[in-house]
Amino acid sequence: MATNLLSNQRIVSGMRPTGRLHLGHYHGVLKNWVEMQTDNECFFFVADWHALTTHYEHPQEISTHVEDLVIDWLAAGISPKDATIFAQSHVPEHAELHLLLSMVTPLGWLERVPTYKDQQEKLKERDLSTYGFLGYPLLQSADILIYKADCVPVGEDQVAHIELTREVARRFNHLYGREVGFEEKAEAAINKMSKKDAKLYRELRKSYQEQGDTEAISIGRALLEEQHNISLGDRERLLGYLDGVGKTILPEPQAALTKASKMPGLDGQKMSKSYGNTIMLREPLEQVEKKIRTMPTDPARVRRTDAGDPDKCPVWELHQVYTDAATHEWVQQGCRSAGIGCLECKGPVIEAIKAELSVIQNRAAEYEGNRSLVQNILHEGAESARRVARQTMDEVLDAIGFTHRA
Ligand code: TRP
Ligand code: SF4
Repeated sequence: MATNLLSNQRIVSGMRPTGRLHLGHYHGVLKNWVEMQTDNECFFFVADWHALTTHYEHPQEISTHVEDLVIDWLAAGISPKDATIFAQSHVPEHAELHLLLSMVTPLGWLERVPTYKDQQEKLKERDLSTYGFLGYPLLQSADILIYKADCVPVGEDQVAHIELTREVARRFNHLYGREVGFEEKAEAAINKMSKKDAKLYRELRKSYQEQGDTEAISIGRALLEEQHNISLGDRERLLGYLDGVGKTILPEPQAALTKASKMPGLDGQKMSKSYGNTIMLREPLEQVEKKIRTMPTDPARVRRTDAGDPDKCPVWELHQVYTDAATHEWVQQGCRSAGIGCLECKGPVIEAIKAELSVIQNRAAEYEGNRSLVQNILHEGAESARRVARQTMDEVLDAIGFTHRA
């Protein structure tokens, strides 16, 4: 699913507060969030509990990074008018749902999530043999399911977590989606449809349940869409009765794969903190200019008079992101004929990056000078997120039958 085509979806995504963001984050994730926020209902949160799974020894760092991360988001153009912005730990319902999901999630499902072993092997110096770390993807499932998200924009590495989320939701619905008297209520609902539709529904249900005919399910769902004289509750019952799963309490989300960021770093590799080749969103512009001026070019161009090959030069990769076709032509010609110097070639890239960053940094400055503004955004975001989360939690507790609450 292409994220830029989404509309009218409920979208949930989170980021761990592990430090300031760079242009790779901006081009890979944030621009995408900004695009989605206008036509969809977006919940963007700082996954501070998730950061604790790997950094439990340094909780102070996490909490200073929370506001800092939000400033980077706001600077990039995420707006509290369009999106709900909050911190995970301000919405305790995420933890409450995580606990209940943990009761029904087989250990093997978590042990088999590829990131579990991968991260343990990669981060050998960290102690990742905790209960919390094993439960990382399940906490993520709770983050998503608590808002009944339609769609979760994530990178390739997170797809397995969304798949787990779907399985957990299915299992939960299967276990608890059967209210007392479900079958009787479903049968009564069938009889509220016209004779013809009721007959068709029964045939479709039979052909799925006896022959596994999945097309019958789609036809059945379409049939239910068209029914106008049945209640919302009955429609849900009939949807569940159709495939025998029961009522859907936690809908299964879709993963919206964000294309791997093509943002090159200063050395031509993908921009990443661990390669030390980044340009930070809030890096002073003179420093950015200096970094680009001194970044490597085609090693064959030792002297100004040596011809070069853009394909062997990281500056050319930045041109792909930042300059137009006419400039590309100028680079190709000038580089291969030694007609332009490398510093000259870097000029348009420097200008474009500085222009992009100055918009971001102007916005950041507003919030840096006014921390309480950021705290307010987080506070209000958490309040509105909680309203939605509480509603789901109440439905979940009802489904389980935990009605003995105060
Ligand atoms: N695990 C995600 C990451 O490392 C962060 C995250 C936590 C998340 N909860 C989420 C992403 C819910 C999407 C939805 O990038
Ligand atoms: Fe790279 Fe441009 Fe120099 Fe060619 S002229 S080597 S593309 S910086």
